[in-house]
Order: sequence, then structure tokens, then C-alpha cells
Amino acid sequence: MGDPATPPSSELAAMAIVDGASLKHPFSDRVPVRSIVCRPDGGAGLAGNRVRAGGWVKTGREQGKGSFAFLEVNDGSCPANLQVIVDAGVEELSTLVQTGTCVSVEGVLKVPPEGAKQKIELRVERVLHVGPTDPAKYPIPKTKLSLEFLRDHVHLRPRTNTISAVARIRNALAFATHSFFQEHGFLYVHTPIITTSDCEGAGEMFQATTLINEAEKLEKELIENPPPTEADVEAARLTVTQRGEIVAQLKAAKATRDDISASVAELKIAKENLSRLVERAKLRPGIPKKDGKIDYTQDFFARQAFLTVSGQLQVETYACAVTSVYTFGPTFRAENSHTSRHLAEFWMVEPEIAFADLQDDMNCAEAYVKYMCGWLLDKCFDDMELMAKLYDKGCIDRLRMVSSTPFERISYTEAVRLLEEAVKGGKEFEKNVEWGIDLASEHERYLTEDIFKKPVIVYNYPKGIKAFYMRLNDDSKTVAAMDILVPKVGELIGGSQREERYEVIQRRIAEMGLPLEPYEWYLDLRRYGTVKHCGFGLGFERMVLFATGIDNIRDVIPFPRYPGRADL
Ligand code: 4AD
Ligand code: MG
Repeated sequence: MGDPATPPSSELAAMAIVDGASLKHPFSDRVPVRSIVCRPDGGAGLAGNRVRAGGWVKTGREQGKGSFAFLEVNDGSCPANLQVIVDAGVEELSTLVQTGTCVSVEGVLKVPPEGAKQKIELRVERVLHVGPTDPAKYPIPKTKLSLEFLRDHVHLRPRTNTISAVARIRNALAFATHSFFQEHGFLYVHTPIITTSDCEGAGEMFQATTLINEAEKLEKELIENPPPTEADVEAARLTVTQRGEIVAQLKAAKATRDDISASVAELKIAKENLSRLVERAKLRPGIPKKDGKIDYTQDFFARQAFLTVSGQLQVETYACAVTSVYTFGPTFRAENSHTSRHLAEFWMVEPEIAFADLQDDMNCAEAYVKYMCGWLLDKCFDDMELMAKLYDKGCIDRLRMVSSTPFERISYTEAVRLLEEAVKGGKEFEKNVEWGIDLASEHERYLTEDIFKKPVIVYNYPKGIKAFYMRLNDDSKTVAAMDILVPKVGELIGGSQREERYEVIQRRIAEMGLPLEPYEWYLDLRRYGTVKHCGFGLGFERMVLFATGIDNIRDVIPFPRYPGRADL
């Protein structure tokens, strides 16, 4: 047996770095707080090193009758703060101790006296920078602030423990996403943000147009510089006629070449003036119209365009050529939802796999969600501990459970049967349960939270409540769709096997009352070399909600957009 005082080898490896210079940030003149306090020894092994550190003061207090100050400094590299001690002789302490002050300091790391909470502290010898705050005005004081309050200060809220931890968790989940798909041979494809197709056919798209600002510009211009009247145009026309006659007369009189050229030049000027006036006389304030409808041929793209609700249709073009792909980007939905699960701008991860069916789709989605849970446990444990302390005691256990337990898989018909049974047993839902309904959030959460207590994949939904592109099952009543429902959130993932049969998809588009023309390119994927394929979309913010246990989706995206709100 080894010496009980000897730490395990991984800890030794981390502690071997005792040279302050090697801890330095590669592109900044300081040591990240993480490199000091997040070592297995809490930083104790670094005692004696001279370092520079920088960050914002979380809390500060003067001690020893104002002879020195303790500052808790955080630089966002980890949830923990670095304890910094500054003597009154080094810097004016009353500014430093204010919450929100930015400091850059240099000093020597020391082990604090016995009994202290910290394993290491920085004794400051030089203060290199102070960015002061006025405590009377600083909107983020050190008192506990509600997440709702912080939404009114989105530009300053990353300075809080919660929002910076969420930012690190979000970052880790994005990295995990790329890592998962790259490891499994998927190609990252950038699908367009501006699109001319409505993927979900639900008409919830934001329009991308310059017609409105162009109309406003023109209105302003016409006020400053009114268009010519009919009389102005007539006068200009008369000038053209007169100048034309002069040219004819000069030619008839065999005038000199120079005289003729001069009068031709004047005629040209008159003609140009006339055509300018005729053009300006046509200008009308307002949005251009044709046959009583908005004339989109005059719009920026010469047709109607929108912000995408999903990159799926476009990513399918790559799946049907390079087989395994994913897109990960912002999507936009103009649904007037005020719930804690909906945003008008959210990020979606959408893989698409060729030569794969609904079972493969479920397997991929389950593996991906498990991978992300494992990743957070592995890479973000300190942030997860903060979430467990502040928001959801069970969040770490939930990640462990999800990463190690097979998801339940039930058909929609079975799900409805279970819900009906629950109703018979006395459970009350706001929305009535019967075969054919779109499951509401209360139903989804009951299935995953109360009945199964783990993620549930519901598959084979009625065709009437799902999008046109989902593959029709042999029963002609249901489609090969699947949703993944998780505790805390409800629907996390929506996916399906795609309809690859040309005749069937054409019929489905018509059945849903959608125009065929905009989908012709999509139909080409079925006309030419069609292939069985499937995919899904994971709502990235919903994954962050699920992982952290935070209640409102507006707090897990840096700049939330929802009805009535788009700050910054
Ligand atoms: O179920 P949805 O609408 O599916 C699609 O858009 C498919 N085209 C995806 C695909 O197969 N490639 O959306 C997918 C997920 C939902 O399960 C949900 O997690 C999330 O996107 N989502 C939203 N998240 C936040 N705010 C909203 N308004 C959301 N709408 C959907
Ligand atoms: Mg859905």
C-alpha cells in the first residue's frame, strides 16, 4: 500500500505544474481562476507562485480597521472565486471592495491560515487595473436576485453565478454535440437562416423583407423632395419637342457641324431630364402592389422569404448525397407562445441519416442524449453542483439516470391508452385525452415524470397532427414519427422517418392543403435516386433546461427573444 498522504496519480499530474508562468492564459496576461482553484488540491500546491489574476469582485470587505481587504474575485472560468487580499498601502480599498469592480492584480499565492475555507489565496503586491462601479447605481448588487429580475439586465447578467454557469453548461453541450456527431462520422452542414420554404407547414414564420424599410425611406424622400407634377412633366416634354425642332431646323439650314452637335447635346439633356421626371412621377409612397396584392418581385430576393423554422428540408439534400449529416443553428418561430418552454429564437440540432429507419432514428437520438448527460457529468460537475444547490436538487442524479437507463419506447396508441387509464383512475388533465389529439405538455410530462420516471420515446403518431414529410405507415392512419419526452421539460426531441415514396409524399402535400410548387426541389430528392432516411430535431435550450433544472427557457439562452421582447 502506498503512503496515505500521496494523492492519486491523476492529481499528482495536475499538481506537477507548479510554475506560475505555465499557468498563464495563452492569450491574456493573467492566470485563469480555474487553473488555480479547480485543481484537485484546490490550488494549495501552487503556494509560492507569483501570478497575475483578473476578474470582477463578487464580494469584498475591509478588515483589520481598514488595513487590508478580502476580495472574492470571479473571472467566469469556473463557479469558484479566488480569494484576494490587498493591503491598504497597495490601493484605495473602498473602491476595490464594491461588488462589480473589475480588478487585475499581481501577487504571490499563499496557503491561508488553518481553518480557512479556501485552500489558496492571492496576497496582492501590485494592482494593475481597477474598473470601478458606483454601488448606488450598479444594477447587479450582491443580494440574491431573481432570474426574472435579471432578464431586465441581459447585458450584465453573465456576471452572476447562475448565468455564467449556464453559459458554461451550454458551451459544454454544444461541444458535446459536435463531438458526438463527429465521432460517429456525421458531416456538419450549414443550412440557410433565410429560406423560401416552410418546413413545418405551420405558417409560423417571420418574414425577411426590405419592402417596409424601402417604403419608409421612399416616403421620407418624397416629403423632402416631392415628385414632379403632371405640369412639370408636360413642360419637360415640350422642351424636348422644341429642342428637337431646333436640331431639325439647323440640319435643314445646313448649319455648321459644331452648331448641330451643340443643339443635339441640348436635346439629349432635355430627353434625360424628361425620362427622370417620368420615372419619379411614377413613385408612389407605401408597399408596392400588383393586382391588389403585395408585389414581392420588388422585394430583396424578388420573392417572399422567411427566417427558417428548421433546417431539416435543406439538410435532407445533403443526407441524400453524403448520407450522415447534421445542422446546428438558430431557428425562428413566430408562435405567440408565452410558456416557459417556448422561445421565438432558439437553437436546434438536426441530424439526418440516409439508409436508416425510425428505429435507427430512435437509437441515434437516445445515444446522443445519453452522451450529452455523460459529458456534463464528466466536464461540468462543479457547475452542475451549483445547479443542484440553487435550482434542482435532483439534477445530477437525473443526468446519471438518463445516461445509464434505457429510454422507454411506446406507441402513441399505447400512450393514449395509459393516459385514459390515468383519467379513469382520477387523474385530471385540462385537455381531454382521446386518440387523435396532439399530446399537450401536461400529458407528455405525466407520461415521463409520473408513469415511467425516465425519458419516453412515443412513436407512430396520427398523421393528422404531424408534418407532411413524415413517412406514412402501412395502417394509413399513423406516420413514422417519434418524440422524446423527458422529465422537467416534456418534448425534447421531435423526429421521424421521412416519406421517400414520390407518389405518397406528393399526395400528402396536397392532402394538407400545401402548394406543390415550393416543394418541387424537395420532391426531386424522391424523383431521382430516392432513399430511406430519417432524422430529428433537438431543441437545444430544452436540453439545457432538462440538464440544469432551471424553470424558464428564457434563462438558458444568452439573449432571449419572445413575444414583446428582444433586448440588445
Ligand atoms: O418538433 P419540431 O417542430 O421538429 C422540427 O422542427 C423537425 N423539422 C425536426 C427534424 O426532424 N429535423 O421541433 C424540434 C424540437 C422540439 O422537440 C423542441 O425541443 C424544440 O425543437 N422546439 C422549441 N424550443 C424552444 N422554443 C420553441 N418555440 C420550440 N419549438 C420547438
Ligand atoms: Mg414537435
